[in-house]
Amino acid sequence: KRVVVLISGGGSNMLALADACAADDFPAEIVGVISDRKGAGGLAKAEARGIPTFAFERKDYGSKAEHESAVLEALALLNPDLICLAGYMRLLSSDFIRPYEGRILNIHPSLLPLFPGLHTHQRAIEAGMKVAGCTVHFVTEGMDEGPIIAQAAVPILKDDTSDSLAARVLIVEHATYRLALEKIAGPPNLFYAPAVQASDFVI
Ligand code: GRF
Repeated sequence: KRVVVLISGGGSNMLALADACAADDFPAEIVGVISDRKGAGGLAKAEARGIPTFAFERKDYGSKAEHESAVLEALALLNPDLICLAGYMRLLSSDFIRPYEGRILNIHPSLLPLFPGLHTHQRAIEAGMKVAGCTVHFVTEGMDEGPIIAQAAVPILKDDTSDSLAARVLIVEHATYRLALEKIAGPPNLFYAPAVQASDFVI
């Protein structure tokens, strides 16, 4: 399966997917990385792996629609089977999603449906949660609410800050996104990707 990854920042999730796709038996290949910021650190990492990159700086476009058209043109060239949003900090319009309905994945750093939106780790800590985690889901027109594909949980420790919790969640994000992409890109099967547990990872 041909995969295009959309990023806005460091692209650690994109890298995790690129590393997974490097395995011969992994059912996906990353055919392009698109960013809405020219300075996104993930672009250089993708280029270092020989992955074609495209950057469409939002401020270079007069409107959201014009910006999305530029991204959609690059997608038409790359002709992906799947699109993976990985740290892409922009909401997609219905017009963007429609042609790719059911083929766009996103990773969100909380156990949805808890804590959609931003500052998820701070909110989990303030809510007194004992666990946090991440969710890979299909993207629908609403924000962070599409069908869930895979999730992972990690403990929240008593002296956690949002930074220390974010670092712990990021580790399981990479494993969970790999799992989710393998499940969706792979042959249809009834196997349900198990929610990976914190115990699966040395923290
Ligand atoms: C991650 O926490 C991801 O869940 C969120 O953006 C953060 C940075 O992702 N969407 P990355 O390192 O750019 O992949």
